[in-house]
Amino acid sequence: MQPSGVFAVLVAAGRGERLGDDRPKAFARLGELPLLAEPLRRLDENGWVDGVVVVCPPGWEEPSILLAEQLGASKVSACVPGGATRADSVRLGLEEVPGEAAVVLVHDAARPLLPAEVVDRLLEALGQGFDGAVPGLPVVDTVKRLADGVVAETLDRDALVAVQTPQAFVASVLRAAFAASDDVSRATDCAQLVEAAGGRVTVVAGDERLRKVTTAADLERVAGLLGG
Ligand code: CTP
Ligand code: MG
Repeated sequence: MQPSGVFAVLVAAGRGERLGDDRPKAFARLGELPLLAEPLRRLDENGWVDGVVVVCPPGWEEPSILLAEQLGASKVSACVPGGATRADSVRLGLEEVPGEAAVVLVHDAARPLLPAEVVDRLLEALGQGFDGAVPGLPVVDTVKRLADGVVAETLDRDALVAVQTPQAFVASVLRAAFAASDDVSRATDCAQLVEAAGGRVTVVAGDERLRKVTTAADLERVAGLLGG
């Protein structure tokens, strides 16, 4: 399959409780602009991307649209308020993706420093016939599974990856996975819904720069990488 009609769903509707700002994380300051500006600009400038759906914090539709206008982000096709969980927000964004889209890229606004090479790798994997592709990094710590507070098992680290976004999917497969799941709200990424529906998902090399902004220290780190 040749990737054509690539739409991005940029989820930015979280409250950012761990960041602890007085506004949602997407509107926390990163240099001169809200955090949301950086991933939005990068998706808008990406040559593969035909359209962007922004899923914004409820009540922040107008500032989100104004920000897109300020950035000249002409590919933004819709801006919708999000839901209670990340997966609910993705579902609401997906409803705004036009039917002709062949590929959907789902990206966290909380990972502002999106390198274009990661998108290249994801789309190449879909071109090889996978239903979905996600960026992953090796797990450096030893990981244990707990049961009632006691270690039940030490997992084989070599078989584990820490997964990031953007995650790329054949649009019809992602839509079908959301429709098939009776527990969308609890999914912490989209790939798990596609996996549960029997889709084949591969992992491409992730990137340190895609680490998620969770705390104020993360925001400072990203500002430093931006030179701000
Ligand atoms: N997200 C969303 N809708 C939600 C929850 C999360 O669109 N109901 C988005 C966030 O805006 C973020 C991404 O999903 O871009 C990853 O979520 P996370 O890093 O957990 O962000 P928050 O939920 O905002 O932060 P916290 O958990 O600290 O409140
Ligand atoms: Mg959260």
